[in-house]
Amino acid sequence: MIQKMKARNFLFMVLLAAAAGCAKAPVQLPLVDPAAFGGELDGKKVELFTLKNESGMTVQITNFGGRVVDLWVPDKNGKMEDVVLGYATLDGYLQSNEIYFGTLVGRYGNRIGQARFAIGDSVYVLAANNGANHLHGGVKGFNNVVWDAVQNDEGTLLLSYLSPDGEEGYPGNLQVNVTYELTSDNELKIEYRATTDKATPVNLTHHSYFNLKGAGVGDINDHLLMINAAAFTPVDSGLIPTGEIASVEGTPFDFRQPTAVGARVNEDHQQLKYGLGYDHNWVLTPADSGLTLAARVVEPVSGRTMEVYTNEPGIQFYGGNFLNGQDTGKNGMVYHHRGALCLETQHFPDSPNQQQFPSTLLEPGQEYYSVCIYKFGVEDTAAK
Ligand code: GLA
Repeated sequence: MIQKMKARNFLFMVLLAAAAGCAKAPVQLPLVDPAAFGGELDGKKVELFTLKNESGMTVQITNFGGRVVDLWVPDKNGKMEDVVLGYATLDGYLQSNEIYFGTLVGRYGNRIGQARFAIGDSVYVLAANNGANHLHGGVKGFNNVVWDAVQNDEGTLLLSYLSPDGEEGYPGNLQVNVTYELTSDNELKIEYRATTDKATPVNLTHHSYFNLKGAGVGDINDHLLMINAAAFTPVDSGLIPTGEIASVEGTPFDFRQPTAVGARVNEDHQQLKYGLGYDHNWVLTPADSGLTLAARVVEPVSGRTMEVYTNEPGIQFYGGNFLNGQDTGKNGMVYHHRGALCLETQHFPDSPNQQQFPSTLLEPGQEYYSVCIYKFGVEDTAAK
């Protein structure tokens, strides 16, 4: 009897072990260690928050600039990879040549010409931090401040910041609230809300540097890009829009059909010379209802895809032209020229000085609302 029981127990153990072997072990991602990431800045604690969804997609975000530090998404075989450039420590960000890795951008995303604008009879002079022009909110834009952060659940992070009246030259106390949400559909959804006590321009965006092969792996010349736009806003040599809305037809700016990013980037075109490649705002063709599919990226080898949805009228496609191999990020990866791309949903650059562009003025009593969704998926490109 005892013998029989022993044999049965043994069989049970064997079956249990076999079942455990078959069950998929949860993949342990080499995430950035929150305990080793932060520190203190401007008397505030810098922290790192981890968001996860049911399928294992994971994003880590710091309240320093509201930066996405890493973003893990599967390829067509389920292999996870970190697809954004960044650092494993706050110090890494503070010492970097590129100050916009993964960050929230404000109070005004992209450039304002001659670092000034007028509202009625009042002229406002902003910080000139890009030659004579103002870029991404100034010397200490929203990328360089420590936000207040609350993580209520595994999928959502709330960030808030009160930008004081006069900061970087802007009028009005601006209360900004940003929600990062990781959805069960493998979307990173960013919602921006703001209110002010004086009229002010507002144009908030997000500045992740994506490489769907993996952060630091080669360049993005072979990524296929679709931008849902029939026109773009040409710029002058300082990258300030000339005011023209130009058709993309017959130019290297026509991405209505998916095209390799590098296919035309070195063509002899004045706009590509000014941008040192792609660094322009496209005028989106808005959806009839709901959010507009602004852009779609496919990385043919891994099969990873990224779609960008927004309620904004424009998108800045920046091809990583200023990356130069001088920054070494997470895991010792070197960030080479055109090693990543940014797709920044936005109102058009220099709108405060261009009456014909959609207005960016926020008045007291109004609420600014902007949404950007980066939706990740896979496509079996080999099967096509
Ligand atoms: C933007 C600008 C670029 C560059 C990058 C950051 O997207 O349009 O010219 O400043 O940010 O390096």
